[in-house]
Amino acid sequence: MEISFAGRAVIVTGGAGGFGAATSIAFAKAGAHVVVSDINVEGAAAVAEKLPSAIAVRTDVTDADSMRELMDRTVDEYGRLDVLVNNAGMPHPLTSVVDMGSADIDQQVAINFRSVVLGCKYALPYLQKQQESSVVNVASISARRPRPGSTVYCATKAAVESFTRGFAAEVAPQVRVNAVSPVIAETGFVKSAFGVDSLPDDTRKSMVDGIPMGRTADVEDVANAILYLASSKATFLTGVCLDVDGGRSIS
Ligand SMILES: NC(=O)c1ccc[n+]([C@@H]2O[C@H](COP(=O)([O-])OP(=O)(O)OC[C@H]3O[C@@H](n4cnc5c(N)ncnc54)[C@H](O)[C@@H]3O)[C@@H](O)[C@H]2O)c1
Repeated sequence: MEISFAGRAVIVTGGAGGFGAATSIAFAKAGAHVVVSDINVEGAAAVAEKLPSAIAVRTDVTDADSMRELMDRTVDEYGRLDVLVNNAGMPHPLTSVVDMGSADIDQQVAINFRSVVLGCKYALPYLQKQQESSVVNVASISARRPRPGSTVYCATKAAVESFTRGFAAEVAPQVRVNAVSPVIAETGFVKSAFGVDSLPDDTRKSMVDGIPMGRTADVEDVANAILYLASSKATFLTGVCLDVDGGRSIS
């Protein structure tokens, strides 16, 4: 399937690692100018410098001014914005809701959900100037298949799915808005949730037992789904939350 983003400008938030880095690379291979955005600007720069046409921008997705500046900087650099991938986000360390501080709850809402709203709000005027522009939000299959210990995180991702459908209806037909809902992948997410660099064997086994395809997600699984949803092969798709979950939702 030939997908081209030649000459088009794409923002990927949280682009320094994990799904965001793989997505930045996938768009670059398809010919896009890529804005690799992350609070970790050194990590974003390390990704951007390997791509043919890319810049790194320091962005804190929880900060409204920082998000607005990201959109403006992109248009200053490339003269346009065609695709926004709202990918940045992180889980809280596994814990019961009753043990979470209110500041930690607010932070989860800010980084996983409010960030998506801000991104859409500030990108929209630029996206509306282009043909076939779109947003892809990174939700999670945990929105519908929550696990104990990550309840607040899962609920923020359910909010992303709901927002995706609502905003898609609001801005159609000019701009498409879709989401991907991945299952567990061994990215920086594992450190944030479990406090270790890779999943303990027994934890991985119990998770994989619940995934009919018999493995965790690879970052490319998610990047490819995002690329497809943003592409000219998906011009009739909007408000879709695509499960990239190896069948976790049906197990
Ligand atoms: N890995 C998984 O199992 C999994 C599953 C479902 C959904 N997700 C979602 O995928 C997205 C990407 O996560 P990942 O798995 O690649 O994890 P990751 O930790 O590797 O990447 C997250 C990136 O977000 C950046 N970031 C953190 N706070 C930020 C902020 N305030 N502003 C801007 N950038 C910030 C980090 O620096 C990092 O580069 C997240 O939204 C996550 O919730 C992950």
